[in-house]
Parts: sequence; structure tokens; C-alpha cells
Amino acid sequence: MRLRLAVTAVAIATVFTASSPSAGRSQVDASVPQAIAALLQRIRTADTGQLAVSEEDGRFLRVLVGATGAKRVLEIGAASGYSTIWMGLGVRDTGGRLVTIEFDAVRAREAATNVVQAGLADVVRVVAGDAFKQVPKLEGDFDLVFLDAWKPDYKKFFDLVFPRVTRGGLFLAHNVINKRSEMPDFLRAIQVHPEALTTTVSPGHEGISMTYKRR
Ligand SMILES: C[S@@+](CC[C@H](N)C(=O)[O-])C[C@H]1O[C@@H](n2cnc3c(N)ncnc32)[C@H](O)[C@@H]1O
Repeated sequence: MRLRLAVTAVAIATVFTASSPSAGRSQVDASVPQAIAALLQRIRTADTGQLAVSEEDGRFLRVLVGATGAKRVLEIGAASGYSTIWMGLGVRDTGGRLVTIEFDAVRAREAATNVVQAGLADVVRVVAGDAFKQVPKLEGDFDLVFLDAWKPDYKKFFDLVFPRVTRGGLFLAHNVINKRSEMPDFLRAIQVHPEALTTTVSPGHEGISMTYKRR
């Protein structure tokens, strides 16, 4: 009896370890081609400033792009392209396109190189420059926006971009939990805007606000 209990406990522990996000190992699986999984890992290893979103957040962004069928996707703040690649995999599935904007010229070049290495250059465009200047140059509306730039600028970006989110579309912002003190005006705006319906999720530990533009 004691032996059977022990075996059962090991079996449960094995199942838990295999599925738990907190297990500490990479969750990149068969849905991510091996070469892209290795590239994502290299970007993380080189990311000494810890700019990139967590793997859980990256996976969540991909799922969201795919599940919503978003075709016109905008990212503000690419750094070296970690989240960009996750969302690029999403638009690969939807038949859409992603434009990502990065202020830092060196990081923008890294992001562009990484996008090419991921085989996503046909669906992802990296724009180097200040998003406040670059967004007005982009044509059309956006089905999904992911904001991950300088936190005190979030409200200004919301004012600039939310009018261009399609009805039923999403405006997402990163770090709304761990850096909430840096963006009080933004956090209030996404709660009180008459066209916005907002919730917060936390696939990793940093928090992503999800603001749905009501139909
Ligand atoms: C936290 S990092 C982005 C990480 C990236 N999303 C990822 O997961 O790999 C923030 C980036 O936003 C960029 N940034 C800040 N303000 C910006 C602006 N006004 N326009 C474009 N990029 C900006 C910074 O240069 C920095 O590389």
C-alpha cells in the first residue's frame, strides 16, 4: 500500500512538473519550430538588461493574436525582437502583418536581424525610430496593439493609438502590475474611457492590461 502511494505521488509530481509554468524550464514546445526556439533562447541569454517579456507572456501574445484572428498588429517597443517573434508567429497563423517600432537604433537592427533569422521577414516589419513620430506615418487601423515602451509615456501612446484600434480590437500594455506606479494616468484612462473595457492578466508576473474597444 505504501509503495503504491509512493508511486502515485511520483506520477502526480511528474505530471505537475511537465505542465507547471513554474517548473523553471523552457516551455517552448512542438508548436515552435526548433530553430526559432533556439533563437528565442539566444535572445533571452543576451538580454542582460532583462528587457524582454517572459516566455509565458510571449506565448500568451501569440495565442491572443491567433485566437482573435488579428491581421493588422502594431508593437511599440521591440527591443531585440523577443515579443516580436512570438507575435510574428501569431500573424503567420492569421495571414496578417506586424509592424514593430524600436527607438534604439542598435536594438532595432538586432530585432530586424532576429526577425530575418526567425523566417518572419515577410510578415514582420521593424521600424527604427521614435514611435510618437513613426505611428502617424503608418496607414490604416490596428486589430491589436502591444505597448511595451517607456512606462510614463503609456497614456500619451494610448491617446495616440486607441482611436486607431478597430472596433472589437485590443490595446495591450505590458508591466501594468510590476511597474504600475510609473503609469497612474494610463491605468485610469483605460478604466474610464467610454469605448474601453479593460481587464488585466498576468501570464508571467509583470501584468498585461487588455483593453477591448467595444463594438
Ligand atoms: C521593455 S523593452 C521592450 C521589450 C520587448 N517588447 C520584448 O519583449 O523583447 C522597451 C523598449 O521600448 C523602446 N522604446 C521606449 N520608448 C520608445 C518610443 N517612444 N518609441 C519606440 N521605442 C521606444 C526602448 O528603446 C526599449 O527597447
